[in-house]
Amino acid sequence: MTRVKEPVVSVHLPSDWAASGLVQDVRRGLGAQPRSLPPKWLYDDRGSELFDLITRLPEYYPTEAERSILHAHADRIALLSGATTLVELGSGTSDKTRILLDAFAATGQLQRFVPVDVSEGTLRGAAEQISAAYPGVQVEALVGDFTLHLGHLPTGGRRMVAFLGGTIGNLYVEERAAFLGALADSLAPGDSLLLGTDLVKSADRLIAAYDDPRGVTAEFVGNSLRVVNRELGADFDLDAFGYVAFWDPLMERMDLRLRAEVPQHVRIPGAGLEIDLAAGEEIRVEISTKFRPEGVRAELAAAGFHVEEVFTDVAGDFALTLATRTGVPAAR
Ligand code: SAH
Ligand code: AVI
Repeated sequence: MTRVKEPVVSVHLPSDWAASGLVQDVRRGLGAQPRSLPPKWLYDDRGSELFDLITRLPEYYPTEAERSILHAHADRIALLSGATTLVELGSGTSDKTRILLDAFAATGQLQRFVPVDVSEGTLRGAAEQISAAYPGVQVEALVGDFTLHLGHLPTGGRRMVAFLGGTIGNLYVEERAAFLGALADSLAPGDSLLLGTDLVKSADRLIAAYDDPRGVTAEFVGNSLRVVNRELGADFDLDAFGYVAFWDPLMERMDLRLRAEVPQHVRIPGAGLEIDLAAGEEIRVEISTKFRPEGVRAELAAAGFHVEEVFTDVAGDFALTLATRTGVPAAR
């Protein structure tokens, strides 16, 4: 019988990360016009639970679309990548990843699984469960920020980095370029990237997916203010905000905001900030960019990745792109 290897969890976020990183982001984002907050602050324990609920909403198609692609093509992905280490960025519960893990396990090639997430509780829970389910695989979880801590990814063997769910679409275009460049720098030629991207589709379907009738997404986005209240002692009145989700056809992205329904004076003592919000003023909490396959290919090429194969679901809603790190990075 294979012995279960205990998961190893290393924490690369300083203990005051939530407070110190959030202070900077709040000063920069909420202290300026137009007001914004980066989406990584959505994922405290409650936010991670709410996201999990979102993935089960009938209107939120990306999770099931990506799952169907994985079911259809995981074996080929495992074969093409030849990876002995599977890294997953923004891994969350790693639920869909089990389809990949099964395919890798079937080839007998997988030695190590490295989930990376800022949400420590969710990551620890997932690491325990994956360890128990895949006793032959060493789980080395990394609590960290994938925009800052890619230098801590373990080296050795052939690696494949999975970045699923369309989370890359939550980064702005310049953040995506910096992220993909840093990722390419942290990989060796022959290592690969499996990138999940949601594809451009009708505004109606997108708005239904991001403004669900049960209000789960509104609750998820509103959770960002709850985090600021808790971590920085702020006094945002959550009931005084409405949720606004719209499709920006020029940027080809969903734009998710909170709108002050009445004028408000908000104190954020932990950031040494007081702000006045006019009635109707909005705080952008997240964007969710939708892609076209040629755009994904171009962004990957600019960062030093060569696309091997693009897999889509039957409806063409979502794409998984398998790309390898090329030997010579493109000029950037
Ligand atoms: N990959 C999963 C979860 C997607 S939700 C899926 O496809 O369903 C996005 C995940 O990314 C959350 O678990 C969140 O905590 C994590 N995340 C968001 N920003 C992050 C960052 N900057 N660094 C690391 N993890 C991040
Ligand atoms: C994690 N990410 C890919 C989700 C998305 O679809 O952009 C986050 C989300 N925000 C609202 N609903 C889902």
